Amino acid sequence: MRSLAVLHASQLITLAGPRRPRVGDEISAVGIIRDGGMLIRDGKIDIVGSSDEIEKIARGAEIVDAGVRVVLPGFVDAHTHLVFAGNRLDDFERRARGKTYEQIAEAGGGIWSTVEKTCAANEADLLSRAKKRAHWFLKCGTTTVEAKSGYGLTVNDELKILRVMRQLTQEIPLEIVPTFLGAHAIPRDTPPNEYVDRVTNEMLPRVASEKLAEFCDVFCERGYFDIEQSRKILTAAKKLGLKLRMHVDQLSKSGGAKLAAELKATTADHLEKTDEQGIAALKSAEVQPVLLPGSVYALGSKSFPRAREMIGAGLAVVIATDFNPGSSPTVSMPMILSLACTQMRMSPAEAITASTINAAYSLSRGDKIGSLEPGKLANFVVFDCEDYRELAYWFGFPQTHSVYVRGEPVIR
Ligand code: NIG
Ligand code: FE
Repeated sequence: MRSLAVLHASQLITLAGPRRPRVGDEISAVGIIRDGGMLIRDGKIDIVGSSDEIEKIARGAEIVDAGVRVVLPGFVDAHTHLVFAGNRLDDFERRARGKTYEQIAEAGGGIWSTVEKTCAANEADLLSRAKKRAHWFLKCGTTTVEAKSGYGLTVNDELKILRVMRQLTQEIPLEIVPTFLGAHAIPRDTPPNEYVDRVTNEMLPRVASEKLAEFCDVFCERGYFDIEQSRKILTAAKKLGLKLRMHVDQLSKSGGAKLAAELKATTADHLEKTDEQGIAALKSAEVQPVLLPGSVYALGSKSFPRAREMIGAGLAVVIATDFNPGSSPTVSMPMILSLACTQMRMSPAEAITASTINAAYSLSRGDKIGSLEPGKLANFVVFDCEDYRELAYWFGFPQTHSVYVRGEPVIR
């Protein structure tokens, strides 16, 4: 049996607490052990305590001296669009000249331009691009990511993207949780309802029978998929055993939050335009909000979601990067912590809970990851600072010292 003793964390941030997503004041309780340590056996956490306690029982264990640095569970990024080809530098430049996301899409940029490049790429090419980005995530301290398809929009290309994710998770230490997002945009040559039928009757059965995704998502938005179309796709997905996530109320208030509640989706993501009624609807069905301040920032908007009201209403808030080439080209969870605190008035502790244990529950993995507690996977990060609040405070550069997945160093 291989054992590892982590010693001398200035603060071991455990996120220990009830075995469910954290709400209200619980979101602020990050569980700090000063001069903390943990004993790890065979990739799992065995004992968590003070460094003194761990040192006494660490006989024979390999020692990892955290050197008076912060130790945190690996970040769990619950919303990314990881697999795509190309970039959107032209959109970026057009936006700098004042064009909106919607105007850029109409002018030939937007999701569709990434779809064309992704369809033209083969699996090996997509895999090598995704591998490079997966390494970026690890370098920023993220050890699990949800990843959506959605830049294929044909049966074969959507399946290709999901297969790349499956391959990726076997080849690298970053764990990938796959989501099918065939309903990301309507292909130019296809009448909308015909495409909705194709997603529902052709793509979803294949995704389910090949077990290529755990979740199904829909971009419920003006000009993309309306409430009726979203309901149809997600209802079919649910019948096939997929759990639901949704892009809602990002650019316009479409009533998507209410649909997420009606369908008992696991998460409703974005929510920039969601009001009190939408928040109440999410609460009534215990839907977890996934807030994506990186996309608000990168689109040059000021319309951040109402995180404080959501926390006040008792929602188990999650924050994520929304990593994608168009609206949020960042893999950095520390950057998202900074935005959460400066733009959404979350405290550093709330932001940490939202990016670890609450995110883990939103991916149905709250029993395995997201906190440093006995029995969980030893996915943890050593950050080169002494106080966990520094992770949200210093911004724009990485403070990662080393990263471990299942007790093995993957960055150091
Ligand atoms: O979450 N909103 C839809 N999807 C992405 C953007 C994707 C893209 O622009 O390529 C998002 O912001
Ligand atoms: Fe997204």
